[in-house]
Amino acid sequence: MNPILDALLSRQSVKFVQAPGPTAEQLDLILQAAMRAPDHGAIRPWRFRLIRQEHVPALVDLAIRAGLAAGKPMPDFKIQKWRTWLSKVPLVIAIGCRPDPTGRIREQESLLSVGTAVMNMLNATHALGLAGFWSTGMGTYLDGVAEALGFDALDERFMGYLALGTPIQQPEPVARPDYSDFVSEWQFDAEISA
Ligand SMILES: Cc1cc2nc3c(=O)[nH]c(=O)nc-3n(C[C@H](O)[C@H](O)[C@H](O)COP(=O)(O)O)c2cc1C
Repeated sequence: MNPILDALLSRQSVKFVQAPGPTAEQLDLILQAAMRAPDHGAIRPWRFRLIRQEHVPALVDLAIRAGLAAGKPMPDFKIQKWRTWLSKVPLVIAIGCRPDPTGRIREQESLLSVGTAVMNMLNATHALGLAGFWSTGMGTYLDGVAEALGFDALDERFMGYLALGTPIQQPEPVARPDYSDFVSEWQFDAEISA
């Protein structure tokens, strides 16, 4: 099969990853793939913060602090779940969006552009023999986390974490939905339009 389609049709998310993460050259390719995202008005809304393995425990700590500060229940099992998920991750990329400050391009279009950039990153990661997982857990929607990660509270949106690395266990292929359930034909109908 065409190798590009082969990669697109075999990608799946892998939550639990370990070292090795992307090399500098691989990360460069992954980020270049992000720059191929469609971007109405050339807003360049993508913002990525690279959080290397040695800084990940501090990231978990700050999410816990932000949760407590926001009055969220922080049971041990939840904290343990975060720590377990991230304990071996070699690279986390915090994903942000800076929509068009003039409002000419609607915010949803910038959010979509960031989403497509992340999709390209996931596909590039997979094509390089690595894997990734996008999560909006661990305090993504707490202002304290976005702020501590350096996202401007007024002008930027924090959109979660992309964890990249080598699968700890090779995933079983997951069956995908039949696209025909979501696709229909449309054609002009003069009677309905009248
Ligand atoms: C914006 C976004 C946020 C997500 N956040 C979470 C999350 O917090 N927790 C989770 O278990 N899966 C989350 N997912 C889903 C996983 O990233 C992944 O897509 C899902 O496990 C299905 O795997 P697949 O990509 O192989 O279909 C999120 C997906 C997207 C697009």
